[in-house]
Amino acid sequence: MDVFKIAVIPGDGIGPEVIEEGIKVMKTATELDGRIRFEFTYFPWGCEYYLANGKMMADDGIDQLRSFDAIYLGAVGYPGVPDHISLWDLLLRIRKEFDQYVNIRPIKLLNGAPCPLVDGNKENIDMLFIRENSEGEYAGAGDWLFKGKPEEVVLQTGVFSRKGTERIIRYAFEEAVRLGKSVTSISKANALNYSMVFWDQVFEEVSKEYPRVKTYSYLVDAAAMHMIKDPSRFEVVVTSNLFGDILTDIGAALAGGMGLAAGANINPEKTCPSMFEPIHGSAPDIANQGIANPLAAIWSASQIFDFFGYEDIGKKLLSAVEKVVEEKSIVTPDLGGNATTAEVGDCVSKWLAEISATATLK
Ligand code: NAD
Ligand code: IPM
Ligand code: MN
Repeated sequence: MDVFKIAVIPGDGIGPEVIEEGIKVMKTATELDGRIRFEFTYFPWGCEYYLANGKMMADDGIDQLRSFDAIYLGAVGYPGVPDHISLWDLLLRIRKEFDQYVNIRPIKLLNGAPCPLVDGNKENIDMLFIRENSEGEYAGAGDWLFKGKPEEVVLQTGVFSRKGTERIIRYAFEEAVRLGKSVTSISKANALNYSMVFWDQVFEEVSKEYPRVKTYSYLVDAAAMHMIKDPSRFEVVVTSNLFGDILTDIGAALAGGMGLAAGANINPEKTCPSMFEPIHGSAPDIANQGIANPLAAIWSASQIFDFFGYEDIGKKLLSAVEKVVEEKSIVTPDLGGNATTAEVGDCVSKWLAEISATATLK
């Protein structure tokens, strides 16, 4: 039996609530399948830990995480700790230290998921965002000069290395080849006259290695508009760290809301653990009420199975999520229901058992 070690960082706000359901469903999935088992180790890091210890994670936290096969994270950030500290010292730190340079975010409308577009459907909302996750606008390079003085100046420098830009664009092309889809690059070379001119040039260069893949290139402002007006244009999409952050929240809105948006931070070379998390935050406005939608966290759990090479289990898990959304009787308030977080987790488990039983009968 394959045994995988998962580090669990529930984090802040609704993080622990949704992660509990993700783990419940992962346990159901592995028990039903029988080929693999997970060992979960919990880490209490986050804003409460910061308030008690003056730091977001243990001093040797990164080393503690290094030996795990994957990290499963809820959300980070809560009122009371400045966001730039909580995020930079935990979430962004892990992404960077483990060189999780690929952020895979599927934007896929499931049957029954609410879509704000009148003509949105399963066929025209099916994108795979490949967001650069290690540098770019999130490089953390800059300075704050003459703080508090009239001549105060702040610098926030984008960093686009050839290595970093080539590898993310190449990753997107490989995904497009695997899926038989087009690649769309999103940039902003008309205004960002160094970084995005370079990005476009690298996209052009790498695309020559893949003559059979259809390519498109949009400016980010137009891309945001096209995502709403004509989402079917987008299949595999590659973009920078900040643009990817913003556009995938638009994507989440198209595909049923933050409660259904999953993401994976991948180190493709597997030299360090990869990290799986819903793309939403800690949602302080609904925390501790037991009403957060756990489906994004559960979808992220399905990405863990895919990552370990058990795509068949990942697929079943996603089908179970889709059944819950389609049936609509046990969904949280964001999807128009009145079920609790735990009831939704139980319902996914129930569907998983049913799907597995049907698959065995065939
Ligand atoms: P958010 O994603 O937490 O919430 C935005 C809105 O979506 C809120 O109205 C919230 O109630 C709703 N929402 C989010 N997830 C939901 C779910 N699972 N079910 C139902 N509704 C859900 O974004 P925010 O309010 O801008 O940020 C709150 C905190 O989270 C901040 O500290 C921010 O920095 C942090 N944050 C962390 C991550 C992360 O850890 N990956 C991501 C985004 C924001
Ligand atoms: C996300 C989040 C993070 C990001 C923040 C919390 C740093 O918004 O994962 O989408 O911008 O990457
Ligand atoms: Mn975001």
